Amino acid sequence: MSEIERKPILYSAVQPSGVLTIGNYIGALRNFKLLSDDYDCLFCMADLHALTVRQVPAELRRHTAEVAALYIACGLDPEKNIIYAQSHVHQHAELAWILNCFTYDGELRRMTQFKDKSARHADNINAGLLTYPVLMAADILLYQTAVVPVGADQKQHLELSRDIAERFNSLYGDVFVVPEPYISKSAGARVMSLTDPTAKMSKSGEPDSFISMVDDADAIRRKIRRAVTDSDGEIRVDAENKPGVTNLITITAAMSGRTPDEVCASLQGQGYGALKDAATQAIIDTLSPIQSEYKRLVADKAFIAETLKNGAERASALANRTLRKVYKKVGLYQL
Ligand code: TYM
Repeated sequence: MSEIERKPILYSAVQPSGVLTIGNYIGALRNFKLLSDDYDCLFCMADLHALTVRQVPAELRRHTAEVAALYIACGLDPEKNIIYAQSHVHQHAELAWILNCFTYDGELRRMTQFKDKSARHADNINAGLLTYPVLMAADILLYQTAVVPVGADQKQHLELSRDIAERFNSLYGDVFVVPEPYISKSAGARVMSLTDPTAKMSKSGEPDSFISMVDDADAIRRKIRRAVTDSDGEIRVDAENKPGVTNLITITAAMSGRTPDEVCASLQGQGYGALKDAATQAIIDTLSPIQSEYKRLVADKAFIAETLKNGAERASALANRTLRKVYKKVGLYQL
């Protein structure tokens, strides 16, 4: 691709720490596809990040391939977009080390995700959990990224990435592009748990709390039927007083391409049973075509391996340019 044709860079990543949920889809993957025509895109499986919590090795490997297949099944063409695993591009870990020396301990300890994860994994508060956002900054800054589509939970990490980039640039000149987050304005930027709608839906939650991207129609129907609502009976958006109902409205809207108001209007005068039916249908309609494509792709192990190899080569060439520049700027001896 010539310089003239080059578009700004879009970068995002997902931890392959489990099967992805409709929270990941609504908050992130859906936007990857929507934005991908306007940018040169890299989509990463952040397998090094996943190691901050204990993983079963065989499962981590499997999930890495599955996330790659899901990206493609969601419409991301691996020829046009760079799809790769973080651990295949050694420059991530190398830049992370440098950036660690430009990040303060106090900044890292303030991160809500660090506080949450430390509370949930009190027996394993490892240093990686603390420096996690520095590796994330390295991911983003290596590619001179302009925009990073993420869910609302990653906003604080993005702000830290920007601070690190600005700090480095103010010392060494314009080395990094300062990235902008892209967080959808709708409530879909934070999809909540079905069993506890005051908490974020998470792939590490208990099975009934999330709908996975590969759940079949029966599982989707059952989980939505059990989703927590309230006793007031009215279908309206009120995140504070009606978090469960609001979450179902948000999911239905996101999965059917409507606004929450349109969903409420279409269900006027009906009960929560009708809302749950609408949510179930919208999820099944959106996921079915993705799932059939996913099943085909994930079974084709040679294709996935080739995609990851090709993605790693392309990502590595780009990453190297930035890393060389950084090494030179900070004064590392050049051979
Ligand atoms: P991860 O793997 O937790 O989630 C992947 C993406 O899904 C979004 N997301 C949600 N959005 C709405 N509602 C939810 N319930 C929900 N749960 C997750 C996340 O915001 C994210 O966009 N640190 C990142 C991975 C990462 C990364 C990066 C992202 C590593 N390096 C560089 C962007 C750029 C994470 O843990 O995502």
